[in-house]
Amino acid sequence: MSVEHAQVQRADFDQLMVPNYAPAAFIPVRGQGSRVWDQSGRELIDFTGGIAVNSLGHCHPRLVAALTEQAGKIWHVSNIFTNEPTLRLAKKLEDATFADRAFFCNSGAEANEAAFKLARRVAHDRFGPQKCEIISALDSFHGRTFFTVSVAGQPKYSDGFGPRPEGITHVPYNDLAALEAAISERTCAVVLEPIQGESGILPAQQAYLEGARRLCDQYNALLIFDEVQTGVGRTGELFAYMHYGVVPDILSTAKGLGGGFPIGAMLTRTDLARHFPAGVHGTTFGGNPLACAVAEAVIDVVNTPEVLQGVKDKHQRFKTRLEAIGAQYGIFSQVRGMGMLIGSVLSEPWKGRARDVLVAAEQEALMVLQAGADVVRFAPSLVIEDADIDEGLERFERAIARLVRG
Ligand SMILES: Cc1ncc(COP(=O)(O)O)c(C=O)c1O
Repeated sequence: MSVEHAQVQRADFDQLMVPNYAPAAFIPVRGQGSRVWDQSGRELIDFTGGIAVNSLGHCHPRLVAALTEQAGKIWHVSNIFTNEPTLRLAKKLEDATFADRAFFCNSGAEANEAAFKLARRVAHDRFGPQKCEIISALDSFHGRTFFTVSVAGQPKYSDGFGPRPEGITHVPYNDLAALEAAISERTCAVVLEPIQGESGILPAQQAYLEGARRLCDQYNALLIFDEVQTGVGRTGELFAYMHYGVVPDILSTAKGLGGGFPIGAMLTRTDLARHFPAGVHGTTFGGNPLACAVAEAVIDVVNTPEVLQGVKDKHQRFKTRLEAIGAQYGIFSQVRGMGMLIGSVLSEPWKGRARDVLVAAEQEALMVLQAGADVVRFAPSLVIEDADIDEGLERFERAIARLVRG
């Protein structure tokens, strides 16, 4: 360990930090592309992408250039002023999507918070206070603010924090009949992840999203797609809704948008955005010039036919090999997902052991993720080299072989 890195160690985490995370035993200190080096100089292959954040890997030259160029110009002005990177980013996102209005913030939770508040505000203004119900899916994940944990269908994240906001209903995912039974004139919004991410990389069925759109139209409710994890090229389209051809009224995104620089966005239409006049909602750092300059470079690189097609091709490369590993060792029952958001579902005997797979992979110098206890998740850089995929999956197979041997 170099002197520079010896000054802090993993053990310090347990003394210095609020214990709400349980980080790995090593500390990454440098990254390049899809390779990461820890304090001891050990090189790892990164299939985590910072949990679907490092859309262009580590230290992509275009992002380093955008960040350093902006760093020499202006860092922050607050929303008392607008700034050039904000407006350029908004234009790029709007040119590329259904939206013609953008709100920038710092995280996925904040983007969803804005989406839920906007939906309630629109319904309040148009129909009155009784139209305030939000319907979301069981096992969904929308962030960790109190409104977003309350809307998400995982009580383990909202239990124990006092009374939850009212007017939230949960229905089983991919169950159109359940949604139809729950929706009413009181519903202001239905919020769905096009692929349920945190709870196991479960894609929505085509008929489900189409049905949700139809029901929202029928009941004057807004359809919100949470694309915090699926957005910005992760699935092989700029946004996952484009695969389905089902257009939301509001879309939240974050994670990959900044390629590692914190930023979130809520995208919507002008007729809805006008219900957020000046002063109704805001955030100090939203639209920060550094974040927007980097995000603009991310969109420039990602929103090209080559990169998006590359994401689809790389998906197939992963899937073929993961299915072979699953078949050989009997460890996976299914490999699912889209693009560079892949879930390997553990087979019956291995259920609940995703964490063991992560630990075994780390021992082979490979970083992978879990999505719940039963799914091993892969969310690497959208431009990961094929050679890194192949070598990473070699390491993965060695990890699985060792785990299976016991
Ligand atoms: C679908 C989805 N929504 C929202 C969030 C919350 O994003 P953040 O952690 O940036 O607040 C996440 C994070 O994992 C997510 O996957």
